[in-house]
Amino acid sequence: MNHVDEMTERMLDDAGIGPGMRVLDIGCGPGAVSLMIVRRVGGTGHVFGVDQNPQMLELARRAARDAGLSNLTFIEGGFDVAFTERGTLDAVVGRRVLMYQPDASLAVAQLVDAIRPGGVIAFHEHDMVAISDSSTPLPLHDRVRSWLREMLRLEGANLHMGFGLHSALSVGGLAVQRVRAEANVLTPTSTYPVGAIIRSVLPRLQHLGIATEAEVDVASLDDRLAAERRERNATCLWEMVFCAWARKQ
Ligand SMILES: C[S@@+](CC[C@H](N)C(=O)[O-])C[C@H]1O[C@@H](n2cnc3c(N)ncnc32)[C@H](O)[C@@H]1O
Repeated sequence: MNHVDEMTERMLDDAGIGPGMRVLDIGCGPGAVSLMIVRRVGGTGHVFGVDQNPQMLELARRAARDAGLSNLTFIEGGFDVAFTERGTLDAVVGRRVLMYQPDASLAVAQLVDAIRPGGVIAFHEHDMVAISDSSTPLPLHDRVRSWLREMLRLEGANLHMGFGLHSALSVGGLAVQRVRAEANVLTPTSTYPVGAIIRSVLPRLQHLGIATEAEVDVASLDDRLAAERRERNATCLWEMVFCAWARKQ
């Protein structure tokens, strides 16, 4: 499990996601978080993964099949998605999805009526905070991060969703329980899969004219990043991860 998935698991612990719960994973994408949740809720619980992108839902369905998990349902839709269990759910969880909403508070408000009183809404988002990234210059790391930052900026995503989480969750009917931030730190021996992340967004980088396939050279990217850290014995702060959860009153 990579650093960021571990942070998601900690948020799921803190938000009390456990056996028997019925949970909506909003913006489930290819299903990584849905699979983490379904392992927690067990055979008596259920996960509803919702995404607006049917291609992502196909990947999620395949991941669930490959993992031999059946108590998941993947549904095409948005924050206002309608399905029978809506209104009685124990929790809604989302990762890296509020940052894409033009009005994050409105998006959260649309989820409040999906859960039962006492239910929880939890989000894991990232923030491009302006802090010193490393005590040692790491030009390749800086370049890769600048590709991601530029892509998100051009796509209109909120680069500071972390700082906006408390406000986004402070909507009628919800009481914010906690906002927490952790750094995803890369060391000379880390194996965090930056290459896989860049591979998954490569078509977007190319489409937006940010980087070419040759420039990215995704097959060797993780090796080159690891070599840069190793040769300089450098530790760097790759990104800040914010998690927040609120309870329905
Ligand atoms: C960066 S991906 C994150 C995927 C997944 N949550 C994860 O962490 O692995 C963002 C996902 O949110 C979905 N998304 C963005 N806005 C959405 C909306 N308004 N309704 C439903 N899905 C949305 C996108 O289609 C995409 O699959």
